Amino acid sequence: MSTFTVNGKTHRFDGDPQTPLLWYLRDVSRLTGTKYGCGMSLCGTCTVHLDGEPVRSCVTPVSQAEGKAVTTIEAMSEDAVGRRVQQAWLDLGVAQCGYCQAGQIMSATALLRDNPAPDDEQINQAMSGNICRCGTYARIRQAIHRAAATQEDEA
Ligand code: FES
Ligand code: FES
Repeated sequence: MSTFTVNGKTHRFDGDPQTPLLWYLRDVSRLTGTKYGCGMSLCGTCTVHLDGEPVRSCVTPVSQAEGKAVTTIEAMSEDAVGRRVQQAWLDLGVAQCGYCQAGQIMSATALLRDNPAPDDEQINQAMSGNICRCGTYARIRQAIHRAAATQEDEA
C-alpha cells in the first residue's frame, strides 16, 4: 500500500508499487491534465511536482511518492506562483497544440519558486528537458519573464 497526497488529498494505492505515477494519475485518479509523451523521461510532458520538485511521472514509480505530496497541473490555479505562470501563458498566448504545455507550466512554476527572477540562460537550462514540437520556446521564455515581473509587481 502506498499512501501519499495528490493536490492536497490523501490517496492510497494498493496496486503494484512499480506502477508509473503517470498511470496512477491518469488511469486511476482520472487527472488527465498530465500528458504521456515519450514514457522514457525524454520529453517532460508528464512533469508533476513531488514535494515541490519537478519529476517525470512516466518514470517515477508510485512507491517513490510514499509519504510525499504530488501536485499536478489541476492544482496550479490554487498555487500563487502557478497562477501567475498560467496567467502569463494566457496573456502571451503561449500554447499552440497545447500537448506539452502542462509539463512546461509545471517546470516553469518550479523554476520560479527556486529562482524568482531567472535570466534567459537559467530559463533555458531549467526548461531544457521540456520539449515542444510546436516550437513555442521563445514565448515560453517571455511568459516566464512576465510571470517573474508580475511577482515583483505584487511583492
Ligand atoms: S512522457 Fe515522461 S518524459 Fe516524456
Ligand atoms: S504546444 Fe504543441 S507540443 Fe508544445
